Amino acid sequence: MQSVSLGRHGPTVSLLALGTMGMSDMYGPADRAESIATIHAALEQGVTLLDTGDFYGMGHNELLIGEALRSARREQVLISVKFGALRGPRPAEFNGYDSRPAAVRNFVAYSLRRLGVEYIDIYRPSRLDPDVPIEETVGAIAELIRQGYVRHIGLSEVGAQTVRRAQAVHPIADLQIEYSLISRGIERQILPVCRELGIGITAYGVLGRGLISGHWSRQRGTGDFRSRAPRFQGENLDINLALVEELRRVAQPMGATVAQLAIAWVLARAAAQDTCIVPLVGARRRDQLSEALGALQVKPSAEQLAEIARAVPPDAAAGPRYPEAQLAHMDSEKDPPDPA
Ligand SMILES: NC(=O)c1ccc[n+]([C@@H]2O[C@H](COP(=O)([O-])OP(=O)(O)OC[C@H]3O[C@@H](n4cnc5c(N)ncnc54)[C@H](OP(=O)(O)O)[C@@H]3O)[C@@H](O)[C@H]2O)c1
Repeated sequence: MQSVSLGRHGPTVSLLALGTMGMSDMYGPADRAESIATIHAALEQGVTLLDTGDFYGMGHNELLIGEALRSARREQVLISVKFGALRGPRPAEFNGYDSRPAAVRNFVAYSLRRLGVEYIDIYRPSRLDPDVPIEETVGAIAELIRQGYVRHIGLSEVGAQTVRRAQAVHPIADLQIEYSLISRGIERQILPVCRELGIGITAYGVLGRGLISGHWSRQRGTGDFRSRAPRFQGENLDINLALVEELRRVAQPMGATVAQLAIAWVLARAAAQDTCIVPLVGARRRDQLSEALGALQVKPSAEQLAEIARAVPPDAAAGPRYPEAQLAHMDSEKDPPDPA
């Protein structure tokens, strides 16, 4: 698989990366053996970047990756880890964030042990801790780099101003943030700042958490994160699934699936905007992975991209990307409005 440099300061990574969250959390039960087989299949097919978080299944996801990588050569795989989210024993209990330097050192010690590795390739706070200046958190990770426990610093769901402040302390490899045909907020301020500073983007939710995978239906229903996500509910869901049918109409004559078109669109936007954007595909099974990797063969022409733009205009999705209570705490949603 082709590789790209993750921004000016990051490592070289495969064009598509694998996000493993859904193998432990958020999207209902997953099959452990199939999850490990999916990670192995991804590595065999040239994926070099795996993304996890220490809070995905309260360490379950890191243990899973650790087990999957036991048979791999460490230097062939890059591991990105998010930290800082505080959870509790109740299902879906989240209690804010802790990114104080002492907490960072504590979190990394647990992650290294669970993953069974000597260092983490990209380490990032999962959200901005409102009580801790980003300079202190980035400074603590920079210290871990000096000590050999971490190789690169990343950010997640922060706005343009925080990106600038972080980069002033230490070069940032990438910003991990939601970006897809139905979540294009970063195009206004965040993406231009990342391009200016040479910071890559690792894009999650490229399939809208399954909503624009082409496999979602009203009958599916869920008892997971998605049952609380506004885009999956009521009339919003009808409007959003109608957009998926529009995409299917564009994809079919191209011999592509809806999921492949959605991933190929992100790659095409990266080229058009001259920015490194690596889609973090959330495949949980080998069949999903294989469909996702098929997107690398889909190269929409200018006319096909225009058709996609007509099918799904920038603000076409109904409903916000997270429940309002969560959006209210996200630094990435707080940048000042564009100058008139
Ligand atoms: N930084 C952050 O705040 C943040 C937030 C969320 C995620 N992430 C990271 O980004 C990764 C990807 O996010 P995501 O899982 O929400 O995004 P996604 O790729 O938009 O959604 C993945 C889901 O789509 C469905 N799907 C259907 N067909 C698929 C196919 N061919 N390939 C892949 N998935 C298909 C699957 O759900 P079903 O199996 O239920 O059908 C799968 O769990 C996560 O694993 C995590 O590492 C980061």
